[in-house]
Amino acid sequence: MSDVQAAPAETSRGHAAPGDAGRGDAVPPGGWYEGDIERVVVDERRLAERVDELAAALAAEYDDNDSVLLVGVLKGAFVFMADFARALGRHGRHVEIEFMAISSYGQGVTSSGVVRILKDLDRDIAGRHVVVVEDIVDSGLTLSWLLRYLASRSAASVRVVALLRKPEAATVDVDVHYVGFDIPNEFVVGYGLDYAERYREVPYIGVLKPAVYTRS
Ligand code: PRP
Repeated sequence: MSDVQAAPAETSRGHAAPGDAGRGDAVPPGGWYEGDIERVVVDERRLAERVDELAAALAAEYDDNDSVLLVGVLKGAFVFMADFARALGRHGRHVEIEFMAISSYGQGVTSSGVVRILKDLDRDIAGRHVVVVEDIVDSGLTLSWLLRYLASRSAASVRVVALLRKPEAATVDVDVHYVGFDIPNEFVVGYGLDYAERYREVPYIGVLKPAVYTRS
């Protein structure tokens, strides 16, 4: 991944205002893996605010009688999914929860384009209002594959909510209805996102020091 920076861009619906992502914030001292993280990209406060904004916008799309099924994409989306589901509840929208586990990264830092289903849906989604909950859209390959997969299952509607998106990394055009933050094309961890299964519990989004993943 390159070190190119990009300003947070307009989202598909709603905005992450310029500078909102808190680029360049210092890593909280004494925090999780402090020595491995270069800087904070989105801090805890801004994450909570944005999750609530996204939930409010999505909740307004549905009628009271609509049955909304959240499909979280493991593992990375587990933290966002938990906060997002509760935020939807606060905005009066009741949801049911499903997870899929699909993998494209393995232990590396770039997308391979190879998607493996590690865990499929547990139930039929025909006729359901489905909301795909992703932690990050990078190349877009995973989401593009997932949307094709869901399209074959006759959902009443499919919406996509992604906490993070890297516009500079996109290799396929994929329709993301709600985006939390557009971020630079750098390797980020925290709030569910990992490197080699570590850092998922970090409570903010931070850029990993390249030295961490260039270590042999
Ligand atoms: C990450 C992320 C997305 C996907 C995005 O998953 O959660 O699903 O990569 O990348 P793409 O847009 O380039 O396809 P990953 O395969 O790292 O698995 P994980 O969520 O279990 O960490």
